[in-house]
Amino acid sequence: MSSLTLPEEAARRRTFAIIAHPDAGKTTLTEHILLAGGAIRAAGAVRARGENRRTRSDWMKIEKERGISVSASVMTFEHDGKMFNLLDTPGHEDFSEDTYRTLTAADCAIMVLDAAKGIEPQTLKLFEVCRLRDIPIITFINKLDREAQDPMALLDDIASRLQLDPAPIWWPAESGNRLRGMVEVGTGRFQPYTRKAAGSAEDPEHPPALPLDQAAQYFEAGEQADLAEAVELVEGGYPAFDRQAFLEGHMTPVLWGSALRHFGIDELLKAIGDWAPAPKVMKAKKESPPETRNAPAPVETEVEPGSNEVTGFVFKVQANMDPNHRDRIAMFRMASGAFKRGMKLKVQNTGKSLSVNAPIMFFASDRELADDAFAGDVIGIPNHGVLRVGDSLSESGVVRFAGLPNFAPEILQRVRVKDPLKAKHLKKALEGLAEEGVTQLFRPEIGSDFIVGAVGQLQFEVMADRLGEEYGLDVVFEPSPYAEARWIAPGAEGSDADVEDFSGKYRPQMARDIDQAPVFLAKSSWETGYVGERFPKIAFTKTKERG
Ligand code: G4P
Repeated sequence: MSSLTLPEEAARRRTFAIIAHPDAGKTTLTEHILLAGGAIRAAGAVRARGENRRTRSDWMKIEKERGISVSASVMTFEHDGKMFNLLDTPGHEDFSEDTYRTLTAADCAIMVLDAAKGIEPQTLKLFEVCRLRDIPIITFINKLDREAQDPMALLDDIASRLQLDPAPIWWPAESGNRLRGMVEVGTGRFQPYTRKAAGSAEDPEHPPALPLDQAAQYFEAGEQADLAEAVELVEGGYPAFDRQAFLEGHMTPVLWGSALRHFGIDELLKAIGDWAPAPKVMKAKKESPPETRNAPAPVETEVEPGSNEVTGFVFKVQANMDPNHRDRIAMFRMASGAFKRGMKLKVQNTGKSLSVNAPIMFFASDRELADDAFAGDVIGIPNHGVLRVGDSLSESGVVRFAGLPNFAPEILQRVRVKDPLKAKHLKKALEGLAEEGVTQLFRPEIGSDFIVGAVGQLQFEVMADRLGEEYGLDVVFEPSPYAEARWIAPGAEGSDADVEDFSGKYRPQMARDIDQAPVFLAKSSWETGYVGERFPKIAFTKTKERG
């Protein structure tokens, strides 16, 4: 039992995600953060653990073949009096939807850049999402053990392309074969780097830090003086770290290192512990389930992380983590309260009640039953399809968090199962995958086909793979006549009658999504524009907020 108060428990949580362009080193960094946090012993355990536990990303053949991590998961560890929840986000661009949703559950993001490459396309996209959601960002410039770009050029890139003030916390002393270490800006403390520690998980120690002017043994002639001069320039040329500006999203502290060689990782973990925000006050609505009679009108409310009622939302559903059990685990991010095992929670949008008897916490080496959890924590709630992405749960059942987006798919295909006797099976499987957010599912109002939508082609491959492995269904995807999907609703000057009128006129192109929301399937982007102009009372939207 914890002796801390509820607000104290909330205040010591750090829930963060790592964002990176593929190959920048996110997986390696995850591994080494867990190592620095004492959550695992040997580097390499992240993958080994994955295989042991048969997590999604590992038992999917496709992931192995392509070497990308497809599914997001969470890992919890306690270090230095704080509880860290690391949300793993897939880096491949086809999975951006999943990543976006995961970021809704994060309070802070670590942006990993490859020191030789700087900002890459996917970094930029993910950064935009963080900015949209006001998520503060800590920058980690990785792979210093290789030849890097000029550090000032890297910082200028951050300033000009992200409109973010970089505040260097450390300054690297060269890179690649000449990497000597790094200096703490403002204190002049020097952290030496030794190649001896290369890749060795068992002994990731670098020599202890010492004042730069006492560190001559780590330098060749002239280097030490050059470095002191560079640091002086840096101290004069860049703003000092200002936590408030960081929390408001104007400034990013910049740290450096090499994930592979476990250099700069302790410093990064300390920065997360010291600076990343604790769970924030969240905006929500108090709203009765839709079918409630005489329900009061929804009211805006603010949820304090340290308040008593357990509230939160589901940002991800992972199905079939254990292929023998057809289980579905809803990833529930807590926004407030003190959760206890066995507690009853209600789903706001359905009014359903659920006893959470077997909540799971995901530790790096294991999954364990969670006896209690607090704001910022992510617990896995096993269920049989009761919980969906975007659901809000609370003790009272009336708290609703909005804002989990669905994005209009960019590819729409028809899906058919080769064995016609399995059509019913297919429906169930497609619904399951759509509820998980793997792909989107549209049921045309006319006909019995299913249209499956995805942001990227790889999503179809993942889907086909999972339909085969998990549901025993051999499917083919065929081109559909549609190019775009838009959710429709009454516009500012419109009414439900206008939506009905439109749906009537375009019946052959109307469909319902998994939540039964009406969707218009356009044959081309030209058509989307055309109907948009012809029906000004209808709002055609590219995103839909679930929950
Ligand atoms: P990702 O999840 O962001 O896609 O990147 P990941 O960690 O898988 O790293 C991509 C590649 O970069 C890997 O090499 C990894 O070993 C390497 N890497 C990561 N951090 C560092 C670093 O600090 N320094 C150096 N030199 N390399 C680093 P790979 O050859 O593609 O894979 P592997 O065979 O080593 O696993």
